[in-house]
Amino acid sequence: MKKIPVILDCDTGTDDAIAIVEALYAPELDVRAVTTVAGNVSLRYTSQNTLNIVRYLGFDTRVAVGAAGPIFGEIIHSSATHGDTGLGPLVLPQSANAFYEKNAVETILEEARHAPGELVLIPVAPMTNIAHAVLAYPELVSLIKEIVFMGGAMVGGNMTTTAEFNAWADPEAMSIVLNCGIPCRMIGLDVTEKAVLNREDACFFRDLGTKAGTLVADLLDFMFQRFSEGGEDALMHDGLAVAAVVQPEVVKTQPFYVDCECSGKYTRGHTYVATNEIFFKKGEKPERCEVALELDLPLFKQFLRRVIARSQA
Ligand code: RIB
Ligand code: CA
Repeated sequence: MKKIPVILDCDTGTDDAIAIVEALYAPELDVRAVTTVAGNVSLRYTSQNTLNIVRYLGFDTRVAVGAAGPIFGEIIHSSATHGDTGLGPLVLPQSANAFYEKNAVETILEEARHAPGELVLIPVAPMTNIAHAVLAYPELVSLIKEIVFMGGAMVGGNMTTTAEFNAWADPEAMSIVLNCGIPCRMIGLDVTEKAVLNREDACFFRDLGTKAGTLVADLLDFMFQRFSEGGEDALMHDGLAVAAVVQPEVVKTQPFYVDCECSGKYTRGHTYVATNEIFFKKGEKPERCEVALELDLPLFKQFLRRVIARSQA
């Protein structure tokens, strides 16, 4: 089986951490690098968390540092959901390893040139790195096969009533990527808010008796505690994007024109999914984005268990 070359772009927080574990153990994926960006917490934490996780699990995958903030404006972290360091109460051994010598943008370019037409980007964070990359190197539009991203929502939001965090944190970046011409698949809140795990799932991972299984179980326990205190449930926002690359049938998608609102006083960060042509000139055929609207939760959970159980090998 030919592995799919991917780069995971993270603002490692709790659900990013589980997505990293999934990607590293999925036999279908060749994780060429994990790139980091500010988002849930500051770049210093998102980067160190990513490096610590990858090295703690024994992988030498390159970790390349990206943007410390959005294209415009200030980043407002989501530490209420992920804790001050981004991983809740978890403390992993601090990796003494160095980050990759190239930054996130140069790493994306390097890997896209290495696998022209095959590389899949999986941004599960504000899209700042991806936007910088396609602006700096337009050749990426023909080199990158697809961008499967966690972000946005057809309806609703988790930062405002109309905006999801990754889109809200850098709306300009989301708009640039949605309109750059690279095929996109949007794994938004419409499906990730249904990708919820429970204590039985946590017990399955803990019973694996592996570092990966225990790490995932500990993260889930933090999420259950958070939910009991009125916070977000154990939602696998980012992990669903990884699953969708390996098993596309885990979600049902429909093609729509999507853009991200950058100027609305109350709607900045809203991902507008055009269900009709009201905003288009006659005959205009704008870029289409595959938008995930339905989730097969049992299939997703089966995927999670299958790949993370490979940590026993
Ligand atoms: O809205 C959910 C997204 O925001 C996830 O990627 C989560 O990690 C946070 O970054
Ligand atoms: Ca994230």
